[in-house]
Amino acid sequence: MNRGTEQTRRLFFALWPDDTIRGQLAAAAHRWARRPIADASLHMTLVFLGSRTAEEHRCFSEAVSGLRSDSFELQLDYLGAWPRRHILWLGTTHIPGPLVELVRQFNQVLPPCGYEVEKRPFVPHITLSRKEKNPQPKTGVESIRWPVTEFVLVESVAVPDGVRYQPIERWPLRKTG
Ligand code: 2AM
Repeated sequence: MNRGTEQTRRLFFALWPDDTIRGQLAAAAHRWARRPIADASLHMTLVFLGSRTAEEHRCFSEAVSGLRSDSFELQLDYLGAWPRRHILWLGTTHIPGPLVELVRQFNQVLPPCGYEVEKRPFVPHITLSRKEKNPQPKTGVESIRWPVTEFVLVESVAVPDGVRYQPIERWPLRKTG
């Protein structure tokens, strides 16, 4: 994409599952969604940045390099639904403090680089389907435990049949315990 004559990339910060957790998320997506998204697309968005220049990208990367945030474990035990948008998602009834703290820190360090803080409250979720007719929330689904030890910057790349998400940078979270 172009802003003026400058090349931009569509970027977001996310939690990116390893192959084992991705397999478990994919199994849940196939179990609960009639039209699940591609297995390779499963992730949790932390902050959506949108189309950004190379200079903005550098600024964002440098800003988050200074963060000191703790590792945590997600217990994904809840199916959420946004019916008007046909979205079915996987979430948690136990939102970890360090996750809330991580997003709070993003919202503190990213605005000087041109990021406008999202006004809607942060709802941690992994989209399972964007094409679900009448998606229904459900509690008490078999929990998936995801130990989260890093966050990533992801590029959303347009491909002929949609988009492909490509992690392009990674930052470790502080080990605890
Ligand atoms: P979601 O659909 O799972 O909520 C890449 O586009 C990711 O960034 C998507 O998975 C989407 O998360 C999130 N995203 C896309 N557009 C967004 C927007 N305008 N605001 C917030 N998040 C957005």
